Amino acid sequence: TEVPTLFKPLTIRGVTIQNRFAVSPMCMYSADDGHLTDFHLVHLGAFALRGVALTIIEATAVAPNGRISPADSGLWQDSQIAPLRRVVDFIHSQGQKAGIQIAHAGRKASTVPLWQAKVEAKQLATEDVGGWPDNCVAPSAIPWDKEGWPMPKEMTIAQIEEVVQGFADAAKRAVVAGIDVIEIHGAHGYLISEFLSPISNRRTDKYGGSFENRTRLLFQVVDAIRAAIPESMPLFLRISATEWMEWSGQESWTLEDSIRLAKLLPEHGVDLLDVSSGGNNAQQKLDIHPYYQVSLAGKVREAVEAEGKKLLIGAVGMISNAEMARSIVQEGHKLNEEAAKNGTVEIEEEHGQKTQADLVLVARHLLREPEFVLKTARQLNVKVSWPKQYERGEWPRSFK
Ligand code: FNR
Repeated sequence: TEVPTLFKPLTIRGVTIQNRFAVSPMCMYSADDGHLTDFHLVHLGAFALRGVALTIIEATAVAPNGRISPADSGLWQDSQIAPLRRVVDFIHSQGQKAGIQIAHAGRKASTVPLWQAKVEAKQLATEDVGGWPDNCVAPSAIPWDKEGWPMPKEMTIAQIEEVVQGFADAAKRAVVAGIDVIEIHGAHGYLISEFLSPISNRRTDKYGGSFENRTRLLFQVVDAIRAAIPESMPLFLRISATEWMEWSGQESWTLEDSIRLAKLLPEHGVDLLDVSSGGNNAQQKLDIHPYYQVSLAGKVREAVEAEGKKLLIGAVGMISNAEMARSIVQEGHKLNEEAAKNGTVEIEEEHGQKTQADLVLVARHLLREPEFVLKTARQLNVKVSWPKQYERGEWPRSFK
């Protein structure tokens, strides 16, 4: 029997990943002044040990005021390279690849870690807990929500240029640390995403107004990073394909904008678009079902492919079982969307359509079940190699 696409390798520029599984970036709020810690080594190393081909390290700030919380990972100074290198070396020792998401939190910076927010019933990290509520920046002076969030300062052109340089410098440090893949965080209402949306970006200069102006910062970051990293290194971009504000009647960032953007990415050297959604607006109305986000990826992929552009697509969101993961990337198959809405997976093979995505990114399910990839391999009857130290734990054929 043929190996499902899910377990076939994927080569992007000079990097080959063993299968189509990636750890979706997840902030762990466990860094020490931006430096990764033992927690990260164990947490991230566990995925590489258990068959995930590409582990994308959490949102990593390009500037101290671009952190979501005081405990975020960062790459704004050279001392942050060594602890990252330690994690990357371990991932490599397992024959797997390491990515890192580089980010600036914009108006969603200076918050406390989620678990602390729950206990204290407040989001804002004030100065006494290491926050910088008066030093947050955004395209316009509009907070994420009316209460409990920092009031950002509208960025000057000089500050924008500094952030672009910050992204390039962070990417260079990631290269020194041995990282295989860079992902730019352009999603979830963080700085780049704030510039994309006409709701959060009310600027009247060359960074606001038209689609071209609102995407300017993104393309400057893309171009600066592409120029700073080796030709052989893949570049990913995560965006929110929609900010889920269509209901409001306001002009917002929509799927159509994302498709328009996607078609422009290959010529700027972006290799993969990681399709997420939401996070830019407290009033967002999500239409959640198991394929709510995967289907956005499929729509972007179809539109890009129709124009003959070469852009890989990553799908993320609620991917939590073997069959779902398999069908998303399976070549020559298309999902029955109606059935998918009800949570069942039906494949319309006669459709002859291509896949929904090229890479499956998993976040929460890998926290629940770190051995998801190995278990999926077993369920799909695919033989994958286990770490030599773990071989005795491999499921015997008779294991039920
Ligand atoms: C996240 N998510 C996230 N996304 C991102 O782009 N950068 C990040 O640093 C984080 N941090 C983060 C932390 C934690 C604990 C969770 C659970 C999530 C979002 C994540 O990558 C993913 O897109 C969503 O969780 C949806 O995928 P799942 O969880 O349904 O597989």
